[in-house]
Amino acid sequence: MLILGVESSCDETAVSVVRDGREVLADEILSQVDIHAAYGGVVPEIASRCHVEAVAALASAAIEKAGITKNDIDAVAVTYAPGLIGALLVGVNFAKAAAFSLGKPLVPVHHLRGHIAANYIASPELEPPFLCLVISGGHSLIVAVRGYTDMRIIGSTRDDAAGECFDKSARVLGLGYPGGAQIDALAKNGDEKKYRLPRAKIEGSEFDMSFSGLKTAVINLAHNAQQKGEQLDRASLAAAISAAVSDTLVPRTMLAARRLGYRKIAVAGGVAANSRIRADFAKAAKREGAELYFPPLKLCGDNASMIAAQGYYEYLAGRRAGMELNAYATLPIGEN
Ligand code: KG4
Ligand code: ZN
Repeated sequence: MLILGVESSCDETAVSVVRDGREVLADEILSQVDIHAAYGGVVPEIASRCHVEAVAALASAAIEKAGITKNDIDAVAVTYAPGLIGALLVGVNFAKAAAFSLGKPLVPVHHLRGHIAANYIASPELEPPFLCLVISGGHSLIVAVRGYTDMRIIGSTRDDAAGECFDKSARVLGLGYPGGAQIDALAKNGDEKKYRLPRAKIEGSEFDMSFSGLKTAVINLAHNAQQKGEQLDRASLAAAISAAVSDTLVPRTMLAARRLGYRKIAVAGGVAANSRIRADFAKAAKREGAELYFPPLKLCGDNASMIAAQGYYEYLAGRRAGMELNAYATLPIGEN
């Protein structure tokens, strides 16, 4: 079964063709990162306009690269939540038009379920149930993936997301937007012990997380250094930030897996590209004899293949949308 996936929830316009949820035939993506970088963050109105300009051409390119015709497509899957509402609406309306004109079903996909599904493409043997840590620019969740469309939140951040913490810290360090990947690169030459940063615990809920204290500590460190006219060791601070984020995420996820009896652990979302988090998970999983799944770097960030992959399983579960489908800025991952 061939699914055309459409993604436009933030600053990447993407269209893919995926067979049976696992095999990517074409993966077209146009990032707007360079445009938004000038503003230090995503400007929603600009994002929507860029999606409008790009989506149709990307769809044509995806169909051509997949070596199919548009009539070979069996269903159209689209991200309808969560994300920037104007940006989401562009993809949703394009997908509606495509499904309507082709006479094929329209399948709505939750963006974070899509991130989880990037692991199905990367690891054909992976099937639920498993535990997944979803870490993106706007979300940090530990999710029990009980079935392909049956998710339960085990823990989540009480304030900022891990990606947000990386991005805000990067801004303070004078790095560009989005800064996660740059902090990651810089951290490789740093001494993480040079700066002491907090690892927050949430009283009474061991699987929830908090990153706002860490973000504030980084901002204060930078301001104090500036006031004293001291030079920050940016590489060491980047290493300390990466260590603090990883120390918040990895032990919690491993503990949740142990408590709930999951032997398979997956990680998903843009922040899953982080080399420190990947290395710490690899060590922890080896120590505990757990199976660990990560998407390749290319599939960690936003893309449409993950949407088509999840769309396949949503389709099998009977999920369909009509022409009244709306987009939602927020939506819990567990809702069907
Ligand atoms: O999943 P994603 O592409 O978009 C959302 O759905 O939000 O995640 C983007 C986030 C950004 O905060 C970005 O800085 C972060 O992922 N990111 C990283 C790395 N690569 C991307 N954070 C830490 N280390 C990285 N290597
Ligand atoms: Zn995302």
